[in-house]
Parts: sequence; structure tokens; C-alpha cells
Amino acid sequence: MPELNDAEPNTGQPDAGQPDQAEAARRAAELREVIRDHDRRYYELDAPSIPDADYDALMRELRELEAAHPELVVADSPTQVVGGAPSALFAPVEHGVPMMSLDNAFSIEELTAWAERLDRRLEDQGRVGAYVAELKFDGLAVSIRFEDGVMVQAATRGDGRIGEDVTHNVATIEDVPAKLNGAPPVLEVRGEVYLRLSTFRELNEAMLAAGGQAYVNPRNTAAGSIRQKDPAATARRRLSFWSYQLGQVEGGPAFASHFETLEFMRDLGLPVNEHAQRIEGVDEVVDYVTRFEARRHELDYEFDGVVVKVDSLAVQRALGATSKAPRWAIAYKLPPEERTTKLLDIEVSIGPSGSATPFARLEPVFVGGVTVTTATLHNEDQVREKDVRPGDTVVVRRAGEVIPEVLGPVLSERPRGARRWEFPTTCPVCGEPLVRPEGEARTRCVNYDCPRQIRGRIEHFCGRSAMDIEHLGEQRIDLFVTEGLLGDVGDLYTLDYDRIRSFEGFGDLSVDNLQDAIEASRGRPLDRLVFGLSIPHVGGANAELLARSFGHLDRIVAATPDELSRVDGLGPIIAESVHRFFASPRNLELVEKLRAAGVNFEGPEVADVPQTLEGMSIVITGSLSRRTRDEVQALVKARGGKSPGSVSKKTTALLAGEGGGSKRDKAEELGVPIIDEDGFDELVETGRLPS
Ligand code: IVH
Repeated sequence: MPELNDAEPNTGQPDAGQPDQAEAARRAAELREVIRDHDRRYYELDAPSIPDADYDALMRELRELEAAHPELVVADSPTQVVGGAPSALFAPVEHGVPMMSLDNAFSIEELTAWAERLDRRLEDQGRVGAYVAELKFDGLAVSIRFEDGVMVQAATRGDGRIGEDVTHNVATIEDVPAKLNGAPPVLEVRGEVYLRLSTFRELNEAMLAAGGQAYVNPRNTAAGSIRQKDPAATARRRLSFWSYQLGQVEGGPAFASHFETLEFMRDLGLPVNEHAQRIEGVDEVVDYVTRFEARRHELDYEFDGVVVKVDSLAVQRALGATSKAPRWAIAYKLPPEERTTKLLDIEVSIGPSGSATPFARLEPVFVGGVTVTTATLHNEDQVREKDVRPGDTVVVRRAGEVIPEVLGPVLSERPRGARRWEFPTTCPVCGEPLVRPEGEARTRCVNYDCPRQIRGRIEHFCGRSAMDIEHLGEQRIDLFVTEGLLGDVGDLYTLDYDRIRSFEGFGDLSVDNLQDAIEASRGRPLDRLVFGLSIPHVGGANAELLARSFGHLDRIVAATPDELSRVDGLGPIIAESVHRFFASPRNLELVEKLRAAGVNFEGPEVADVPQTLEGMSIVITGSLSRRTRDEVQALVKARGGKSPGSVSKKTTALLAGEGGGSKRDKAEELGVPIIDEDGFDELVETGRLPS
């Protein structure tokens, strides 16, 4: 990505030391290139690489430069066009009325100046009158077209004129009615697709429980979900929608004001946010903005500003639009959720499976609605790359639900003598050496007896997807391990309840509940037990395969690597890992402990694998996140299908992971359905391609 030359600070003052003509032209070209790159990342890849505030600063600098040197303005400058070209993956849709962008105001002064500009512009044509203030939702804009009340099409904004057809995906959104009663013959509804924070949290919990990686933030997740090839995948993300603007309308009632259009949409059953409010003048806008800025973290959805629109549609028409944005509306952006604070120290935390993560201890700072005292630094390379040092003033960000993160140091404030931080060589919990396997970003504590890992394995065993033992959370496990009651999961079944009763906070009822919960876990199905044992690489799905294929824990323990890898869908890496696990005397001892405790070792009888893929041909491309290619191929074969290496007319579907170039092109050319891993699971399960 293009680098910005930071020799030229943005003073924010257009007339303070203007660079000369040639320099201005060079800088404008540079800014355009960088902004276009960020636009592409944001709109097309849904993967922005800089905070919105930094992007806004670049845009502002370019706008100011162009204002001072109008001769530099070119038609395709990012200041003149709406970002985001439609992608080739989705069919193009021409919007009945262009989907415009909004100009921004970054301070109350700029907002007031905008309102004054409107008054001046109208001159003798009257006054602006009332405004409507709305929240600026942070999601993805779409336009939904209803004909005779039936939803017929939905499209993203794209470049404003042509967007992408995402009809099937938008149709999965519960908030969007499939049919409107009493709607005019043609009605285009514009609004924002977004993810509720509660849903975002639930998705992440499920994702983590399944061993996946958490989604980064609700906005990117919503944007990524709406651009899925498979609507079933979109449906699983449980997106929401707010309607805030009409596009093309034919044969509808004559509206006089924007607020009426909102009420009209609401009456039709469309979701219109209850905080949209008609206000008489900009003073009230200031009030609205202040009120919502304070409530920013109370709502179940994110908003990054307030949109102010002139209410009268006649005045809107009189004011018109530039090539990019209407003059009658403006987005007041809330200050960015980034703050600077002092980095007190860098420490390393050890995760339940031994991974060592560096994190920052910070002087408490209020950011993103909470007081933050620690923030992640991800891994050793990140610390080195950012070169943050204890004593530095650092920029901290907390966007939405994401764990707070240190973005980087403020170099101008680095104290003299601040030393580069070195990753510790020993585990802060057990003191044993830390290891960073070659080619991996993670450093680990590999000491099986590290108290953190003992706790981690017990937490995992008790987890909902494993033995599901209630009333035994992290804190209690921590206490029991520290008190010497628990050394491994086998000890759970011989706990000394009399001693537990003597601990503070453990009344009779609470101990009885705990005992019942542990008792109940003895009878859990075999696959839960196998998953609960924390065998490296064995997640829920592999545990199920093992349980189903062998039917008894003893048979899994006794299986040779060869026998294990013959299990359809398992593959050699996992087979080896399972074999190694049960070759360890310590783990065999644990198996005996569990047997003595009466834990269920038997699984369902080996069932016949249903031949759901009979006669089908599934080609694989790109890198998959859940199974290796070998595993997928074995699974396809086990289910009666074939998995050849190239796409042809006979291919039933192309399973596409990350990346994947020529096979994807070929599949598109031949009209072969392309499915993702969710779609593949559905196909394996049902024998049908996802609709
Ligand atoms: S009105 C011509 N209202 O902000 C006016 N936009 O920066 C079109 N947005 O593309 C937009 N909340 O994605 C409008 N209450 C709201 C909004 C809103 C969020 C987004 C929308 C738009 C972007 C413009």
C-alpha cells in the first residue's frame, strides 16, 4: 500500500504556509492514491487498515488543498466521487435514483457553518425551516426495491450509480418485510444493514466455542455478511436493518417533508429508528448531538455520528446536490474512539492452552465507553513492528466490542532512554522456558504442569460444548487448583466437598448444586468426553467422528495411527495427534481415573454413513479454515462423492476457501455453483446445494 510522506504535517489550516503549486499538485496526487487505496480496502474488501478518523483527516487535507488550488480538482478525485466500485462477484444493479454520499462536519462549529451556508444559499427563496436529526448507523447502505409492495431487488451502494445485487441476502434479514401492504407501485427504500451488538456478541461466542476466530467488529461483519455468495451464510449472521431514506417512488402519495417519508415507511411496516427527530433549528441539533453522544454506549447498535437533513422536500430540491452529496444533509461525525495514554508496562499473559500474549498495562483511560487499563498487543512481531516501549505515550482504540488495542506510540513524546521491549524467555506463571515454534507467530508455554494450563484444561472440560458442568466457572476452578483440590479433570469426580463447604461463599445449596452438576456430567456422550480431553487439533467435529467410528474410548486409545487416519474425514495430522496423546502415560492414567469415576466411555454404535454426496463431484480451491484438503476429500468419498482436482462442466460445486484464483474463474465461467465451508457442511448434511 502506498506510503504517506509524513514530512509534511497536516496543519488543518488551509492558509497556514500553503505549499507552492508544484508541491500542492504532488501532495494532492499522493493523497488521492492513498485515499483510493483505503476506499478499496473499506468498500470492496471490507477490511479497512486505518481508523476512520485518520481516513477523514486525509480526505480533509485533500479537500482543503483542492479548495486552495481549484485547478487541481479532477473529476475522478475521491472528493468528487462516491467510494467503492461494484465487485464482479455480484450482478450489477443500476439505482433508480443515485445513492449519494454525505458531507461531513467534525465539530459543532462546522455544523453551524453548514446551516448558515444553507440560509445564505436560499437567500430570497425563503428559510431552511425545520431539520430532521437521525443517528448515523455504522453498517452498510443498501437500496431495496419494492414493486406493488413485493420486494424485488436489493443492491449495495457500489459507486453510487451502480451497485451489487444482494437481493437473496437482504431477503434473509428479518427486519425487512417481504411484502408491504398499501405500498405504491414502485418504492425504493434506502437504509443501513447492521448487526446488533447483542447479536455480534452471540456470534462471537458461538464462533469461539467452535474453535474459530472472533469477528473483529460489527460493521465489518455486517458488510461481509451481506456480500456472501451463499444466502444461508448471511441468514446465520442475523442482520438487522434501519430504513432512513426513500429512493425512486412512482405512484405514491405526495410528501412535503422528509419526516413524513419516515412516518410513511414506518406505517408500511419498515423498521424506522425511533430516535429520528424533527427539530426547529441548529441549536437543537447541537442539543441532539450532545444528548446522543452521551448515550453512545447505551444502545444495542453502533452509530458513528448524527445525520442532519433539511426537512422540507421543496427546500431540499431548491438546495440540490453536488456530484457527490446532497447540500441539504450533513453527517456530524462523533469524535473517534481513540485516546492517548501512558504505557506503564508490557506484560505477557498465558492462555488456557499455553499461548503467551503480550499486553499493555495502561494508565486508566476512558475510551469507547469504558475505562481501559489493559490492551492487547497480539504477539511478539506486533510489539516489534509497532515498537511501543514502556514509558511511551500510546494511542489506544476500542471500537465497538473489540478488545482494546494499542495502535502505536506517539514518538514525539517518547521519554529519553526508553528501551525496546524484549519478549520474556520464561513463562510468568510457571517459570519454565517459553517456546516460539518456527514459522509461528505465537509464543507458548509448553509445560504441561503449568498451573495456567491445568486450569485451562479443566475450564475446557467443563465448557458448554464439552462436559457442560454448570456452577464451575473460572474463579472456582482457579480456587480449587490453588487449594490443591484439582490437578486434572479426573479429580473433579473425587472432590472433597466437606473442604469446599469450608470455603467462603460456598453454602450448602451452592455445594449441592455443584455436586449435582458434576454428577450429571458422568453420563455425557462419548464425543463430548473426547472433545473435553483437550487433545491437540481435536475440536467438536473430530471428536464426533472419533466417537462414531470407534464407539468406545478404549478403542480410540488403542487405535494405531493407521486405523485412526482411516476414519473418514479425519486425516493424518489429527490421527497422529490422537495417537500421541494416548501414548502418554500421564493421559492413560487420566483415562483410568475417569473410568474409576464411572464416566461414560461408550458412544453410539458405528452408524452407516449416509451417502448424501452420491454421484456428486466437489472440487476444492483456496485455503480452508476448518478441515485440511485431505480431510475434505476423505469426507466427500465417505459420503459417496468424488473430489477431482479441476473444475469441469460435470462439477457439482466448487468449495472455495480464502484465495483461490483460476478454479474460481473457471467455475464462474461454467456457471458451477461456488460454496463456502458453511455451504459445504450443509451439502454434506442434506445432500442439497445451499439455496
Ligand atoms: S442518508 C442522500 N441517513 O452514511 C442521503 N445515511 O456517509 C443518503 N448512513 O451511505 C444517506 N445512517 O450508509 C443517511 N440516518 C442516515 C444514515 C446514513 C447511516 C450512512 C449511509 C450513507 C453514509 C453516508
